[in-house]
Amino acid sequence: MKRLVILAGAVAALMIGGQVSAADGKAVYDKSCAGCHKGMKPKMGDKAAWAPIIAQGVDAMTASVMKGKKPMPPKGGAASEEDAKAAVEYIFSQNK
Ligand code: HEC
Repeated sequence: MKRLVILAGAVAALMIGGQVSAADGKAVYDKSCAGCHKGMKPKMGDKAAWAPIIAQGVDAMTASVMKGKKPMPPKGGAASEEDAKAAVEYIFSQNK
């Protein structure tokens, strides 16, 4: 019974935390970013192209995506900053 309570507490903490996982980043990427970044520079898998971008950090690059960088639209087409950040983290993780 005690274990059940601990488990329930952990689940509740996870839900309250609401942190996006890598899986969400991939979902956002597939939906909003892949249309361009699969075929267009900076292209997924082109580690040399991403290295200087990754070097600037997730927060700075999320801010850049939120602003947009032609032809990339504001937020990169994602629904929210959280989604954009998760997608940036996903892209970075795939191009290191
Ligand atoms: C309409 C096409 C398009 C879409 C949609 C798009 N991007 Fe981009 N993105 C680009 C292009 C092109 C660049 C390069 C812009 C440049 O450096 O001039 C870029 C640059 C970036 C950069 C580097 C920004 C910088 O300041 O150097 C990041 C990070 C990025 N995209 C992430 C994303 C994410 C995350 C999404 C989805 C949420 C997304 N992009 C959606 C076309 C797109």
